[in-house]
Amino acid sequence: MSGIDIKTIETSINQEIHQIDSLQGLEAWRLKYLGRKGIIAQLTSSISQLPPEERASFGQKANALKDRITSLIDEKQQSLATDSAPDQVGFGDIHLPGVAQDLGHLHPITQVIDEICGIFLGLGFSIMEGPEIETEYNNFTALNIPLEHPSRDVFDTFYLKTQNPKPKTQNLLLRSHTSPVQVRAMKSRKPPLAIIVPGRVYRPDAVDASHSFMFHQIEGFMVDENITFADLKGVLEIFARGVFGQDIKMRFRPHFFPFTEPSAEVDISCIICKGKGCSICSRKGWLEILGAGMIHPAVFKHVGYKPEKYTGFAFGMGIERIAMLKYGINDIRLFFENDLRFLKQF
Ligand code: PHE
Repeated sequence: MSGIDIKTIETSINQEIHQIDSLQGLEAWRLKYLGRKGIIAQLTSSISQLPPEERASFGQKANALKDRITSLIDEKQQSLATDSAPDQVGFGDIHLPGVAQDLGHLHPITQVIDEICGIFLGLGFSIMEGPEIETEYNNFTALNIPLEHPSRDVFDTFYLKTQNPKPKTQNLLLRSHTSPVQVRAMKSRKPPLAIIVPGRVYRPDAVDASHSFMFHQIEGFMVDENITFADLKGVLEIFARGVFGQDIKMRFRPHFFPFTEPSAEVDISCIICKGKGCSICSRKGWLEILGAGMIHPAVFKHVGYKPEKYTGFAFGMGIERIAMLKYGINDIRLFFENDLRFLKQF
């Protein structure tokens, strides 16, 4: 073989490569040139028959030819893969329908909070939040809850261990209700106020189907001159109809809270039996959903509002209870276990 032969081979590889139209054809072509007994191997073994002074340059040309063939094969392989066989592309069969991805959604408790907040926003209330770690003063004292009140007991409230013993009113705790945000709001703003407060609260209850050491409340309050109990009833009725339906009935039962006077517990007609009496409402026909009342003058004094000038109402409700009634859920623990089989139903 000679230098002329290498030129001829170059011409033919450039023509042949264009005619190849399949991966099998390409493999056959590769063997023809680069195989163990292929043309390049033959060229290489012919070197020994050349005169010594031609050997080096012939060897270089043979190597260059081999490199050229290798890169032609690489290019062809790629173009065959994309042009003629899309089904064999690395990422699978592009003709198959896509796999639908599961989309996440809001937790049912968040959904109920959003729904309730939406109703009150529509009535002109604004949303405020407060810290889950509170002072004993805001959680109890400013709310007119006396020092000896049982709800202050360590069995009813999570107290935080603080490093330096503090005066009793500055003890820190996990808030046991959202009512301390009433104090924060009134201390930082002047009336008129119409505020709702969604948030987590904590109580050291043993966990069972209806108790959890952490749950959610929504607090609401309105303060201005001449706010009356009738305003409270009107606002709560709009809320209850919005959440439970237009034909729901409400009743206010006298009750006691240290921070409201008068106080009431508010019931709705049982959403299961419509008031006839069933196991959900313990045959009463009514379901308790919240506590409410007119803000106690002592609370106004603590926050620096004049009790002679201003009146206001406040209410507080447990969100888990509302959600359980609304959706017919019989175990509060379901909200916190995050079992997808449960969550996916909302
Ligand atoms: N804070 C009370 C509770 O947690 C609820 C409430 C709020 C009652 C506001 C009256 C007024 O039980």
